[in-house]
Amino acid sequence: MEDYTTSYHALTILLTLLFLSNFHTSLASTSSTTTEKYKTYIKTACNSTTYPKECNNALLPFASKIKANPQKLCNTGLSISIKAAKNCSSTISKLSKNKGFTHSEVAIIKDCIENIKDSIDELKQSLNEMGHLGRSNVKAQIYDIKTWVSAALTDENTCTDGFDGMNVSKTVKNTIRKSILTVATPTSNALSLINSLHSY
Ligand SMILES: *[C@@H]1O[C@H](CO)[C@@H](O)[C@H](O)[C@H]1NC(C)=O
Ligand SMILES: *[C@@H]1O[C@H](CO)[C@@H](O)[C@H](O)[C@H]1NC(C)=O
Ligand SMILES: *[C@@H]1O[C@H](CO)[C@@H](O)[C@H](O)[C@H]1NC(C)=O
Repeated sequence: MEDYTTSYHALTILLTLLFLSNFHTSLASTSSTTTEKYKTYIKTACNSTTYPKECNNALLPFASKIKANPQKLCNTGLSISIKAAKNCSSTISKLSKNKGFTHSEVAIIKDCIENIKDSIDELKQSLNEMGHLGRSNVKAQIYDIKTWVSAALTDENTCTDGFDGMNVSKTVKNTIRKSILTVATPTSNALSLINSLHSY
């Protein structure tokens, strides 16, 4: 009898362990399948942007936060653009501290800092409106957001439009071009993602 009880207990424990380990495995595989699904969602959305590779690199780390939610996808894209615009602003402000610029260079750098500031405002306004979708006419809200992000992109690109025929050194040109690229790329991608908000 005692032998039977002991082996019965042993069997119960063994079965419980087997059950738990199976349960664990199935949980783990469920969550990794879900993450893969979210990543595929982002890759598909990024595929229709101007810079798919950069879009994937920027957004995939946020897959578990974005899930498969188009609104969260756009919000994340906008937040990344705002961060990039602040970074760009600080790079160009640092550049402006240097000495010995020509009058053209001083004017171009000053205008560029203004343009990036406007672009940050427009991106922030867009992100804020994304957070209030449905408060009024959603179609009109999305239209406004598209207009602001598009204006932000124009402002960023204006920084590099003013070089032609001006006495601007290679260093100034390259610094501005390079740092504008770091913000115009995510902004252009955010605009594409927002343009794909068909269902709203
Ligand atoms: C991206 O688009 C290309 C061409 O349209 C297609 O072949 C590819 O499967 C797409 N990739 C994803 C992840 O959607
Ligand atoms: C352009 O700027 C450089 C550096 O300040 C100066 O030496 C040169 O004379 C300027 N050229 C013109 C055409 O103004
Ligand atoms: C910040 O700016 C620097 C200089 O332009 C650039 O190399 C870097 O990639 C930027 N970082 C981000 C997150 O945009």
